[in-house]
Amino acid sequence: MPASPPVWGAESRPPSLPGDLVSGPTARGPFASLTAHPAARFTAGSTEILVACLDLAPDAVHNLAASLSDSERQRVNRLAFHRDRRRFIVARARLRQFLAARLGIRAESVELASGSHGKPELAQRFAGTGWRFNLSHSDDIAVYAFSRGCRVGIDVEALRAIHDADDIAASFFSRHENDVYRALVSHDKPLGFFNCWTRKEAFIKALGDGLSHSLDSFDVSLAPGEPAKILRVGKTCGDGTGWRLDSFSPAPGYIAAVVTECHRHRQRLDFQTARETFHSTAFQD
Ligand SMILES: CC(C)(COP(=O)(O)OP(=O)(O)OC[C@H]1O[C@@H](n2cnc3c(N)ncnc32)[C@H](O)[C@@H]1OP(=O)(O)O)[C@@H](O)C(=O)NCCC(=O)NCCS
Repeated sequence: MPASPPVWGAESRPPSLPGDLVSGPTARGPFASLTAHPAARFTAGSTEILVACLDLAPDAVHNLAASLSDSERQRVNRLAFHRDRRRFIVARARLRQFLAARLGIRAESVELASGSHGKPELAQRFAGTGWRFNLSHSDDIAVYAFSRGCRVGIDVEALRAIHDADDIAASFFSRHENDVYRALVSHDKPLGFFNCWTRKEAFIKALGDGLSHSLDSFDVSLAPGEPAKILRVGKTCGDGTGWRLDSFSPAPGYIAAVVTECHRHRQRLDFQTARETFHSTAFQD
């Protein structure tokens, strides 16, 4: 048995959340305005989000490694540090479990492929199921987003001091974002920085383009206390961008964002499917 709960709330149901997503927790200095929430599984519109802890005991990691493919094992072997090997094994094995539960197959039977810029996706033979997903990890936290028929991207970051945050914002945020960031009072700047970073990253990951996508071609909201929104994509502003953005804290000291493509005609179906999956999925090591 793992030393700590393998997936928060997956085995023991999380308390229900007020509304869709919450801006969560941490007691860290400038991030103290966030409120903690140990939720492991919740929804953002039609998108399901799961949170996993990657810090498991060696025997649990060993058991999970059995579901990895040969190429995944080769990737593990290329990692120099034990901690990185453990994190990759658990993150990838959890992904396989989550996908297997949705596909009705065994975790080791899940076949993954890679998009042109490295975004993992289900192999062609599962394309008919419509399942899309994305994941992100930071330290010992992994977050997963699952959607049926809609492109989705997710990003998580450990909240930490960044000594050159202002320079990074000037280089990587859009002009509008940098203006908003610079206008923040100093107490709000650290969270504003990570709000912007995770939201931009989640959007890029939804597109799957990686660093080939211009970071200046879209704007996100970032000011603490204001709703998470994609404000502009190209020349399209406001609600017409076709993307939904949500921000949440998966664990104390972490901030995350999830971006989902809006397909109005699919959302009702996806929501029903998500609810059914929520009630039927269980995980065992
Ligand atoms: C992979 C990438 C998309 C994100 O990397 P990262 O932030 O270091 O790491 P994350 O933990 O958030 O995400 C990594 C996971 O994303 C997935 N991923 C890899 N390439 C991806 C892509 N092109 N699109 C979406 N997801 C991708 C993988 O599952 C990967 O985990 P794995 O390798 O263990 O399976 C990165 O290559 C990238 O291009 N980042 C953009 C960085 C940037 O400029 N951000 C600006 C914000 S202001």
